[in-house]
Amino acid sequence: MNNLSPNSPVRLDLGERSYDIHVGSGLLARAGQLIRPLIKMPHLFVVADEKVAELHHEGLAASLDAAGIGHDLYRVPQGEGSKSFARLEHLMSAILDTRPERNTTLLAFGGGVVGDLTGFAAAILLRGVPFIQIPTTLLSQVDSSVGGKTGINMAQGKNLVGAFHQPRLVLADIDLLSTLPRREMNSGYAEVAKYGLIDDPAFFAWLEANGPSLLEGDREARAYAVRHSCHAKARIVAGDEREAGNRALLNLGHTFGHALEAETGFSTRLHHGEAVALGCLMAFDLSVRMGICPADDLARARAHFQACGMPVRLPAIEGGWRVERFFEHFTHDKKVDQGRLTFILARGIGQSFVSRDVPQETLRAVLKDWAEALP
Ligand SMILES: NC(=O)c1ccc[n+]([C@@H]2O[C@H](COP(=O)([O-])OP(=O)(O)OC[C@H]3O[C@@H](n4cnc5c(N)ncnc54)[C@H](O)[C@@H]3O)[C@@H](O)[C@H]2O)c1
Repeated sequence: MNNLSPNSPVRLDLGERSYDIHVGSGLLARAGQLIRPLIKMPHLFVVADEKVAELHHEGLAASLDAAGIGHDLYRVPQGEGSKSFARLEHLMSAILDTRPERNTTLLAFGGGVVGDLTGFAAAILLRGVPFIQIPTTLLSQVDSSVGGKTGINMAQGKNLVGAFHQPRLVLADIDLLSTLPRREMNSGYAEVAKYGLIDDPAFFAWLEANGPSLLEGDREARAYAVRHSCHAKARIVAGDEREAGNRALLNLGHTFGHALEAETGFSTRLHHGEAVALGCLMAFDLSVRMGICPADDLARARAHFQACGMPVRLPAIEGGWRVERFFEHFTHDKKVDQGRLTFILARGIGQSFVSRDVPQETLRAVLKDWAEALP
């Protein structure tokens, strides 16, 4: 049973693939000690975001050394572009040069990009080796490091090549967030707010009261929100590991969001979390226009995102946003089922559900209005 006491880890119950998610302060210093009992050989292959390595490798190395764990270090260039076949091949080759064995454990040290890339490498290296996550962005602490989805992007769209591969341990040290740029904090915050919008109206209300101070640096609020989010994700994943049902709710805002990211070329123009924030508002707008969600709930979500400094309109792009391009991206979405588009809609804040019955005219009208609204 999971619990929310601040000192015990959140447990993701998946039978023999179960693992602990530790959330709190000072975890990097305890990493070696927490990892040592889980690995057969006292050695790790660390895959680190280059910026994170620059800022925090020393701390990680000291902790691993103190626990008698040796390690290799591979630095991944910053940015979404590293979730590619080219980077994967380079990484695999670097690992193979160290003559890995079935028990060789990879450690992902960075945000969602490094976590998804490393997890996928672990899933396919020697047909599967263990891996551990030390997520360093808010987004990766509350979402991508938990649940075992790994993968890379293709020209056709996001995360189209990948595997389910669960980590053995997740260490979410909230102290690492102190070096994270504000825009990245905001981006991750979209995934935090998403848990409230999906099925937890009380958490959304807590965020309305505490979100701005959390973003400003309130450590207690950060720890609470990360812990609460991991607990929410663990609960949903434990009930549906392979996304046959309710796990799809975690994709709230993502069908729209992935299309926005594809149109902006997976660039810094629009970060993943920003695209998700806009996507959540678009999903609520669609729900309102379908007559199933009160307009007040859309207004509340928009006001909260705005108060937290998140985008609430699409950014201007060269050539403008085109409705047809959205539909092209939607058809590449992994959630297409027998040609039918799948959307996560809402009957209100905290009342999301999966729908395959979205009227095309209403969807088109929503896209047109968002495309034409000036930033
Ligand atoms: N697997 C999943 O379930 C899942 C879920 C959600 C998102 N994702 C994926 O996650 C990715 C986005 O992850 P992200 O937002 O963490 O982006 P990211 O990994 O690109 O990190 C964002 C930026 O922050 C920097 N950074 C990271 N940690 C830092 C720190 N502590 N201090 C200073 N700078 C730091 C990085 O260098 C990078 O420039 C997307 O590819 C998305 O598809 C996966």
